[in-house]
Amino acid sequence: MAQLWGGRFTKETDRLVYNFNASIGFDRRMYAQDIRGSKAHVDMLAKQKILTEAERDAITAGLDGILADVESGSLEITEEYEDIHSFVEANLIDRIGDVGKKLHTGRSRNDQVALDMKLYTRDEIDELQGLLKALLHVLHDLMKVHTETVMPGFTHLQKAQPITLAHHLGAYFEMFRRDYLRLRDIRRRMNECPLGAGALAGTTYPLDREYTAALLGFDRATANSMDSVSDRDYLIELLSAMSTVMMHLSRFSEEIIIWNTNEYRFVELDDAYSTGSSIMPQKKNPDIAELVRGKTGRVYGALMALLTAMKGLPLAYNKDMQEDKELVYDAIDTTKGCITLFTGMLNTMTFQKDVMEASAKGGFTNATDAADYLVKKGVPFRDAHGIVGALVLYCIEKNISLDQMTLEEYKAISPVFEQDVYEAIAMKTCVEKRLTKGAPGAEAMKAAIEENARWLSEIEGQQ
Ligand code: ARG
Repeated sequence: MAQLWGGRFTKETDRLVYNFNASIGFDRRMYAQDIRGSKAHVDMLAKQKILTEAERDAITAGLDGILADVESGSLEITEEYEDIHSFVEANLIDRIGDVGKKLHTGRSRNDQVALDMKLYTRDEIDELQGLLKALLHVLHDLMKVHTETVMPGFTHLQKAQPITLAHHLGAYFEMFRRDYLRLRDIRRRMNECPLGAGALAGTTYPLDREYTAALLGFDRATANSMDSVSDRDYLIELLSAMSTVMMHLSRFSEEIIIWNTNEYRFVELDDAYSTGSSIMPQKKNPDIAELVRGKTGRVYGALMALLTAMKGLPLAYNKDMQEDKELVYDAIDTTKGCITLFTGMLNTMTFQKDVMEASAKGGFTNATDAADYLVKKGVPFRDAHGIVGALVLYCIEKNISLDQMTLEEYKAISPVFEQDVYEAIAMKTCVEKRLTKGAPGAEAMKAAIEENARWLSEIEGQQ
């Protein structure tokens, strides 16, 4: 049991208490951030003449040595230490002797852990944004290919009106674009450095907090030391943003699961992204999509758990806050894994264009267009609606689609129908006439795709 405290204690900590309290089992993943923060801290201490340059150099070299040894595997982060901060400090003292004991001057583990967690999540936000960008590129490329792939658009999961696959995918492009921008907002808002807040009330040393903040790539130092050590808002925002990403992935997964059924056959998953059954040889299951859908609950759970952990906490630091780590780590790992797998699945999936188009026809998705045709010939819309309803009923009885009716059959229901009805209700016409901004018509889609391309190149190389 290696602890940073103990001076005022007369008894050893109970082993179970020690284990219950320790966070090394999980916060070890922040070793690089912890070392980076400590190096910036001693740089600042030396600049402020709180440490000598020689002391700074010795501590920095020691910290670099720890980092190199952890990375090469020659130094193991063991459960013997209470947390990652104790591990680094104890190792530093072992390595460089008493001068290592000066590292923690003007610092508390409260501002230290607040910093480590910010450095860690900031890196992860960058990665999440990168993964979303890759997904947006796959969607964009598919949209370009499928501007003429007609499919039914659904409401209530009932076929409604014809759209194109590009249009359907375009809806997800918007969702993931918002997710990307949400992460960018969070990153900007959280980018303030808590180091120097001390335990809660700042320190009596003449620290230059803005200097440390700049060294670590923050926009500024945080404004209030109590808030600095007890703010977990940015983690809640991140969990909320990741929950929204997962919700979008889950909706899309649900559609893919439906589209991949024998009944729909709109898509076929690549063999590399499907799984089989141990008993039913014919099966090719969409396990990846199902797992993405299933894992959504985990990320929502983390959001609820952290909100609940924070809700009754008085200022400033309380140990309850240690609970943030496993929740956030797991949610980040889960979300990153899901975006990556989903992107691969989407990129390798085959879209069955003919099946999609036949489904649009078979589902009377052009019924609204047939009614609009009559309206153009002077029939009031309400009457046109009734006439087309009768057409649909007739088709259902005969098990045919609207375009398979003969002109005589049309005329028997309404004499207004002429030969040009076939052109008016052709799937291609139905889609192409929908030209308002955001609609699936070819011109409107072209504009949307151009705008997406412009935006994708704008965010290239940006956060
Ligand atoms: N492991 C702790 C956490 O994650 C670090 C801060 C400890 N501070 C304290 N006063 N016990 O929150």
